[in-house]
Amino acid sequence: MKKITVHSTAGVGNLVCGFDVIGMAINEPYDKITIQLSDLPGIRIKHTDEFGLPEDPEKNLIGICLQALINAGDEQTGFDVTVHKNIRPGSGLGSSSASCAGAVVAANALLNNRFSKNELLEFALEGEIVASGGRHADNIAPAIFGGITIARPTDPFDIISLPVPTNLYVTVVHPQIEVKTADARKILPKEIPMKSGINQWANVAGLVTGIFKNDKALIGRSLVDEVAAPFRSKLIPGYNDVMNKSLQAGALGGGISGSGPSMFMLSESLAIADSVEKCMQEVYKKLQIDFKTYVTTINPQGVKIIESE
Ligand code: HSE
Repeated sequence: MKKITVHSTAGVGNLVCGFDVIGMAINEPYDKITIQLSDLPGIRIKHTDEFGLPEDPEKNLIGICLQALINAGDEQTGFDVTVHKNIRPGSGLGSSSASCAGAVVAANALLNNRFSKNELLEFALEGEIVASGGRHADNIAPAIFGGITIARPTDPFDIISLPVPTNLYVTVVHPQIEVKTADARKILPKEIPMKSGINQWANVAGLVTGIFKNDKALIGRSLVDEVAAPFRSKLIPGYNDVMNKSLQAGALGGGISGSGPSMFMLSESLAIADSVEKCMQEVYKKLQIDFKTYVTTINPQGVKIIESE
């Protein structure tokens, strides 16, 4: 194989109470990344999207991750990369992780899967750290491993894949404003009160148990975040309306996706997920803020190879 194209999935980081630790891959939106092996050492990157990202491999996240992969293997490897991003940077939908995970998975396939998924995660993290200013894998892990993951922040990371509950639909709204992850991290306090910690780990326990037992009601009532949402919700116009109206429409629960401004809600039927989408649309129409919505499902696979030659 000399050339490979992948779809690299968006993701919902934090999964509300699982700040920096629990995330899930979703089927839409996704980026398309094509990588070709080259006899010419080094990395060349071309973007065909509208986001104006740097193509210099030392400044582009994909370049940084691929360089980490090359450094761990064969210094003579060369890659030509073409990227079409649909996941807008600064959306909270794991845009940087989609770039980083997609690139390392595709490159690894070209190298006959020389590296394990855990090794790929460490390469992809090199880019994620530059993007967000923090070493967390709640977006990278589901992009590489698929589904819902727990990323225990040991060194190296300890990734635990959770079962994907049946009949769970994800409605996402992305108001078209940019929130940089690094900025959304700076506004968080360095310490949390003991009471918030107790509530947070109770909710994480409830969420993980709900996922294992396919208990939607338990999942829904565990989707509460006392650590980041109280601060970050202030950066998201319409946050309270989206939450309240979606719950009234029958959503199980939800919250901020990643560091925002996107929000997501989980529902146990497509009909409810569609109603939630309508509520979200009404909120942002009223606020006169452009937005995109998606009704999608959890992506069990993560980065997916769609073409090879
Ligand atoms: N866990 C991260 C955060 C996700 O919320 O800051 C975005 O990279």
